[in-house]
Amino acid sequence: MGFFTKDIKTMDDLFVHTLRDIYYAENKIAKALPEMIEKASDAKLKQGFKAHLGETENHISRLQEVFRMHGAEIEAIECPAIDGIIEESEEVAGEVDDKAVLDAALIAAAQAVEHYEITRYGSLVAWAKQLGRPDCASVLQKTLDEEKATDKKLTMLAENAVNMRAAV
Ligand SMILES: [Fe+2]
Ligand SMILES: [Fe+2]
Repeated sequence: MGFFTKDIKTMDDLFVHTLRDIYYAENKIAKALPEMIEKASDAKLKQGFKAHLGETENHISRLQEVFRMHGAEIEAIECPAIDGIIEESEEVAGEVDDKAVLDAALIAAAQAVEHYEITRYGSLVAWAKQLGRPDCASVLQKTLDEEKATDKKLTMLAENAVNMRAAV
């Protein structure tokens, strides 16, 4: 972003800027998930992370599709928010020895990531509709629905199993 000029002038600019922000974030998440899969002990949690890695790769493809549909260059711009969430979760995970407690920490970290994605996709869907791009909105909505479903699954896993074991 320019220091002397303001590069985001219109809602369309803001839409494209945010697409590039979440494009960076999704790529970062795809790189972080294999380590989370490796660290998870609970079989369902491991499987859940694996499934979401597959979905995340799909989210990246969908974003590329939206860039193309909207005639914008496919580009990632640094997203300090996702960098911070991932950095903090790695720090916390590094402090935990107990496997069940580590699973609980991994779930909390993954939910922070999902909530970040939900806010971004929520805004993008609303803005796409406002900009007269229901076609882009419906592609982004598919991803938003998957992020919300993942968040719910993580809550169920935490409440049903992982937290209970960690508390023993
Ligand atoms: Fe995603
Ligand atoms: Fe996600």
